[in-house]
Amino acid sequence: MKNPFITSAIQKRGMESFFIRPERPEDIDAIFEVNLQAFGQDGEARLVNALRDDGDYNRELSLVAVFGERIIGHILFPPIVIVSDTTETSALALAPLAVHQDFQCLGIGAALIEEGLKECQRLGHRIVVVVGHPTYYPKFGFTIARDFGIQAPFPCPDEAFMALSLASGALDGIHGTVRYPIAFDTVGAHTS
Ligand SMILES: CC(C)(COP(=O)(O)OP(=O)(O)OC[C@H]1O[C@@H](n2cnc3c(N)ncnc32)[C@H](O)[C@@H]1OP(=O)(O)O)[C@@H](O)C(=O)NCCC(=O)NCCS
Repeated sequence: MKNPFITSAIQKRGMESFFIRPERPEDIDAIFEVNLQAFGQDGEARLVNALRDDGDYNRELSLVAVFGERIIGHILFPPIVIVSDTTETSALALAPLAVHQDFQCLGIGAALIEEGLKECQRLGHRIVVVVGHPTYYPKFGFTIARDFGIQAPFPCPDEAFMALSLASGALDGIHGTVRYPIAFDTVGAHTS
């Protein structure tokens, strides 16, 4: 199948056999497995299933990295709301992101983020928030969310809670506390 998501990041590394595409119904078990394997626990894998069951994400924003027939990475951008006393602003979370341990540090995570953010932008989304490694996500333009007045609804070091504007001025005047889909509370995984 012709795939529009072959990435420059992968091509640069001479690994054209990896590609990225949106999730399909038959990917559900493999997506669970790659999250379970990458995180070494099932919280994130169950979170993805719970969000899917709740209808709480757009499948165009659930992308898999495929090597041969095998799913070796996954990224999801579920919807969130940034809530202040007077406003509610729709945005996306980047969570979770998983790359199978055998394929880490090959650029797969970066490719998933880059292609995922392009898709978010193409679909008109303007803000993405992530809880994650403070040295990893700034490479993709994420900066500390608290600097914009955006807070996590749970205890989190400032440097690990980051936001990215996908449109000019998207973060201007935005402040408040992020409200995640209910599955994040029931499953208890907020990190990317
Ligand atoms: C984090 C993760 C998604 C990165 O994917 P990846 O394909 O291995 O990453 P890439 O090849 O794109 O990037 C590699 C870079 O990320 C860094 N990196 C990888 N894992 C990292 C981590 N846990 N913390 C900080 N940096 C990390 C590497 O040091 C490397 O840095 P360099 O480019 O300066 O050498 C992957 O390691 C993973 O699935 N980890 C387990 C699950 C997880 O922690 N998810 C993210 C939660 S924030």
